[in-house]
Amino acid sequence: MSREIRVVIVGLGTVGMSLARRILSERYTYGIRVVAAIDSKSAAVDDGGLNLRRVLLRKKRTGAIGDGAERPEPLAVIKEADADVLVELTPTDPAHTEPSLSHISMALSTGKDVVTANKMPLALHYRRLLADAESRGRALMYSACVGGGLPVLDLGDLCAQADEVTAIDGVLNATSNFILSEMQERGVGFESALGEARRLGYAEADPGLDIDGVDSACKIVILADHVLGKGFTLDDVRPFEGIRGISRARMEKARRKGKRLRMIASADDGVSVKVEEVSEADPLCVRGTDNAVRFDCEFSGPRIIQGPAGGGDATSTAVLRDLLAIGRLRFGD
Ligand SMILES: NC(=O)c1ccc[n+]([C@@H]2O[C@H](COP(=O)([O-])OP(=O)(O)OC[C@H]3O[C@@H](n4cnc5c(N)ncnc54)[C@H](OP(=O)(O)O)[C@@H]3O)[C@@H](O)[C@H]2O)c1
Repeated sequence: MSREIRVVIVGLGTVGMSLARRILSERYTYGIRVVAAIDSKSAAVDDGGLNLRRVLLRKKRTGAIGDGAERPEPLAVIKEADADVLVELTPTDPAHTEPSLSHISMALSTGKDVVTANKMPLALHYRRLLADAESRGRALMYSACVGGGLPVLDLGDLCAQADEVTAIDGVLNATSNFILSEMQERGVGFESALGEARRLGYAEADPGLDIDGVDSACKIVILADHVLGKGFTLDDVRPFEGIRGISRARMEKARRKGKRLRMIASADDGVSVKVEEVSEADPLCVRGTDNAVRFDCEFSGPRIIQGPAGGGDATSTAVLRDLLAIGRLRFGD
């Protein structure tokens, strides 16, 4: 059997382009052949494998993957593709889960494994999607949904292996942490810090996802289910506090106590997202765009992971990690 994974990629933006570039230029244990790619305007399909160099060049020059012909219906492309895996990289939309939910469901129902970086379908339908994948004998992998390239879910899995994880808390949103850091370390105002986050490309297209805590809430819900086995959904997140209204007085009060404000997402018997005072010595007091997550383990104590999380290359690393794990499952390595 050829040790090759045949892939459909939906979404060739920051993460998808990085993924395509890396598939083109790097060698992995398994061959990765992209047989279809879809963006918001067009699609390119070739059962023999797309010429990724040409696709990337066309996307750069024209903004579209396709050659200008009418865009095939994405669900039909996913359904009919002679592929093993769907990689779903469309934008996270706080208002609803489409079209990503339909893309994922179509892939599973037509015998494909799924790798996604899109957290909204999982935060709202985690149990249903995992059950759907399991009943069909398919893999649904989502490392990139929590911590971007930081292997947060992997550490959670390891911690839970010979121990019980009793609680999780962490800084899970790079943009809000960047804004809070800028405001506290450099004394700039909220709007100016948000502008800088946008200029540097950290903020989501809809920054409300970051600053109102929705992104952190999605991630803690996924973590709580994946590691603690709790069936929370976004509706269970209470309190749910963003950083939009954070006052200078509150920051100053924290500073006088040697503390900093951080947006902390937590899970134990409940799930919450709130702005908390954190001691400067606390590993969760990360700066800039870093993330940090602490797993409280009953026997082995706290286990912490921290570091840079998002960005195209970091996040495509998590996607590749999942693709290679699917290779191991498929080829029994
Ligand atoms: N960027 C990060 O650091 C990061 C980290 C962790 C997780 N994620 C998640 O990864 C996913 C992708 O992020 P990104 O930063 O790569 O987003 P992005 O740069 O906005 O790219 C999104 C891609 O999806 C395409 N798209 C939009 N609507 C579509 C539709 N209806 N059908 C097919 N394609 C569609 C866009 O097409 P056009 O090119 O035609 O606009 C674009 O290629 C998101 O869910 C995000 O939350 C991102």
